[in-house]
Amino acid sequence: MTTTTTTTTTAATTAATGAVGTAHTRVEGRDKVTGAARYAGEIPFADLAHGWMALSTIARGRIRSIDTAPVLAMPGVLTVLHHGNAPRVDADYVGMLGRPDPIVEAFQHDRVPFMGWPVALVVAETPEQAREAAEALVVHYDREPHDVEFTAGRPGTYTPDVDGMRTEKGDLESRLAASAHVVDAEYSTPEEHHSSMEPHAATARWDNGRLELVDSNQGSTWVADELTKLFSLDPASVRVRSEHVGGAFGSKGLRVHQVFAVMAATTLDRPVRVVMTRRQMFSLVGYRSPTTQRVRLGAEPDGRLLAFDHQGQSLSSTVHEFVEPSAGFGRPMYAADAHHTVNRVVRLDVPTPTWVRAPGEAPGSFAVESALDELAEKLGMDPIALRARNEPDVGPVSGLPFSSRNLLACFDEGARRFGWADRDPRPGVRREGRWLLGTGTAAAAFPVLVAPSTAGVTAEADGTFTVRITASDIGTGARTALTLIAADALEVTPDRVRVHIGDSDFGPAMIAGGSMGTRSWGWAITLAARELREKLVPGGTIPPEGITARSDTSEAIGALTQKERHAFGAQFAEVAVDVTTGEVRVRRMLGIFAAGRIVNPLTARSQLIGGMTWGLSMALHEEAVRDTVSGGLVGPDLAGYHVATHADVPDIEADWVADPDADDPVGIKGVGEIGIVGAAAAVANAVRHATGVRHRSLPIRPDRVLSAGTALRA
Ligand code: MOS
Repeated sequence: MTTTTTTTTTAATTAATGAVGTAHTRVEGRDKVTGAARYAGEIPFADLAHGWMALSTIARGRIRSIDTAPVLAMPGVLTVLHHGNAPRVDADYVGMLGRPDPIVEAFQHDRVPFMGWPVALVVAETPEQAREAAEALVVHYDREPHDVEFTAGRPGTYTPDVDGMRTEKGDLESRLAASAHVVDAEYSTPEEHHSSMEPHAATARWDNGRLELVDSNQGSTWVADELTKLFSLDPASVRVRSEHVGGAFGSKGLRVHQVFAVMAATTLDRPVRVVMTRRQMFSLVGYRSPTTQRVRLGAEPDGRLLAFDHQGQSLSSTVHEFVEPSAGFGRPMYAADAHHTVNRVVRLDVPTPTWVRAPGEAPGSFAVESALDELAEKLGMDPIALRARNEPDVGPVSGLPFSSRNLLACFDEGARRFGWADRDPRPGVRREGRWLLGTGTAAAAFPVLVAPSTAGVTAEADGTFTVRITASDIGTGARTALTLIAADALEVTPDRVRVHIGDSDFGPAMIAGGSMGTRSWGWAITLAARELREKLVPGGTIPPEGITARSDTSEAIGALTQKERHAFGAQFAEVAVDVTTGEVRVRRMLGIFAAGRIVNPLTARSQLIGGMTWGLSMALHEEAVRDTVSGGLVGPDLAGYHVATHADVPDIEADWVADPDADDPVGIKGVGEIGIVGAAAAVANAVRHATGVRHRSLPIRPDRVLSAGTALRA
């Protein structure tokens, strides 16, 4: 390596650009479409062994014995790990985001808490050998009776004793009694799965006393921290990398495959890869709990809400309390004299649910925004006018001021572009051959949060800049967004900036989650870039190793004042309902969002449209059905679990109004999750408008449409 000092003057860094806000294709886009970008399961390793999981075929009981001998004699098989021989772990820790899902304690005991619990890992020279052996492995169980039946208010339902489960303002019953109009309705949503396109995959190896994990995750610091604690390692001896991620949606933290890869790599002293199958993902990576939700709204004749009550219920496993907080959605939404919300949960013999895009808000908005539509109809009021009537001045529950609240601006712009003003509110009167037509709308909101992150920015001797941050691009375009943010902070063009992400050696950073990634990382990069610019002397030279500045946003974030800080949106949908088959087709969707300053319009639009598409899918298709007899899912794959595909997705548009966050250095709020919020309600409200029938249970399947009937007859 040459030691010649390149004389790049820092004067060249002063050309202002304004990259943020302009559309940029993904910086890794070419690599992705040409196949040059490699995902965790594709990266070659010398001497790689392959692990294949065997999962329980009972929903509750104990493992009596495992017949390993015949399998160990099969071609290529190196070992079979299970509760009787696997390395011990210490799962009694609190990680970056709380207690780990106890699935990481697989192989630590003989109990089976649900169907699809991992009972063994067969490791072999090739994935084919490992798979054949895992499928041949015979496991004997002592079976116990299981209970997987989720129903509203069933025995065992309780309110968790943790923060944020219940809010109560005002005397609900008296305000309901005083209301001229009351909606009291029960809504339900089914078990839903993220099932990201790229299945979970990890390769572990020990390299000179250092554990290296090549992974697909939402945060490499997060996974490194969890592995460090689980295996009682020195934090400096663990490195996790995750270069490209083919979707995550809340499912890609520490799951069991990484744990098994580490165990097997340790036992065999060679690199071991564990890749999940699509079917395995249905019990191993979490999912969205089904919900039942009761919503009560009481209003004056002019639409003003006197009472707002939202009672949500979800399920969790017997081994871990995870709550889908659907009743949280309404807390910042509508003013009401009495405002009550509560989340309840029941523990069953099922896998533990987890975060799925807009946890809480996605199902919660379906219930509340459907109930608002029901109320508007009772009042003979336009649904947008009803929402406008109940705009709060401050947080309806918190009393805190809003940082900004542009919900009505979204409705105004959306109504104009969708053509809402011409809408005939009468249900079931528009017909086109065998199709009934209708339109619906719903509000969206998602909290805006930020978490401490660190970043490093280096001025290189060749005049370029290198950013290092443990961000994760789970398909969102984060790498590109951060390139634009760094370019502006450095006052250079984006082509002079390279952003390296997905390596825990870059230091702690927020995960790609909670719609907080770009805001949290962008903040850290902006601070580091400012620091770097102060270090650079105009006209000075840059040494070969470059000049680096590092940032840590802990202090800046700690100084934020408490506000109601949210992104908002207005969703619109037009549907056609076939009165002969019960099929619902969405004809067009429009979402207008107030989601902070938009960093990259191209990828932000994709995020929003992706969320809306999922909302369409949630409204009409998605439903994992649990068989009460076996305790497992019926058809846990993408044949049995229906998702909206190309032919189901119509003309979808997403756009936004100006809404910069005044407290963020870039003005960012976040766009990852809000697109799904309210989308299913807009579709359901449109189905009501088309058919005259209210569907309170998702998905709105053809059989449900047919059995519920329509206002008109075929
Ligand atoms: Mo997302 S459900 O916050 O990972």
